[in-house]
Amino acid sequence: MALDLNDYIATYNDFPEKGIVFRDISPLLEDGDAYKQATDEIVQYARDKKVDMIVGPEARGFIVGCPVAYDLGIGFAPARKKGKLPGKTVKASYGLEYGKSSLYLHEGAIKPGQRVLVTDDLLATGGTIGATIELVEDLGGIVVGTAFLIELEELHGRDNIKGYDILSLLKY
Ligand code: PRP
Ligand code: ADE
Repeated sequence: MALDLNDYIATYNDFPEKGIVFRDISPLLEDGDAYKQATDEIVQYARDKKVDMIVGPEARGFIVGCPVAYDLGIGFAPARKKGKLPGKTVKASYGLEYGKSSLYLHEGAIKPGQRVLVTDDLLATGGTIGATIELVEDLGGIVVGTAFLIELEELHGRDNIKGYDILSLLKY
């Protein structure tokens, strides 16, 4: 029997700032069956999209993307925050629900024409995913899908990535 993954999301009011309703995926990650069920759904989506590379933004995008890459036997490229990646990188800046940031990707991480799935735990304003897509496309990758555990619908993040396919397992 499939689990209701809603039961594995914790909600905290006023974290990390007053007014933010924080949706925490920790209970889902801490339960092997729930983590596997969520991962399996994204693996199936990636198979359908014939993905040959996964890119996820630091840090929670790694948690979602890496097990999918492992299961499919394909590569995972981390999009990292400032000062973390050595060597030549491409950069994209963005705003998010609380604050501003920038992300970097190794220049050689994606080969032109590769079919890329971008993963993250949560879609809020869409700033993070938009910047990650920009990095992939800078390197000539084709973003064939985006996958999230959670979408916060009232923040309209999908409007920031119009034209891209979106899988979100849970919506709030
Ligand atoms: C969170 C979350 C997403 C992003 C979503 O990451 O994991 O990446 O915010 O918000 P957005 O759609 O408004 O961009 P955060 O920057 O807090 O970093 P973390 O994963 O390192 O905790
Ligand atoms: N990242 C951005 N907004 C968030 C929220 N409301 N809950 C959890 N992670 C987030």
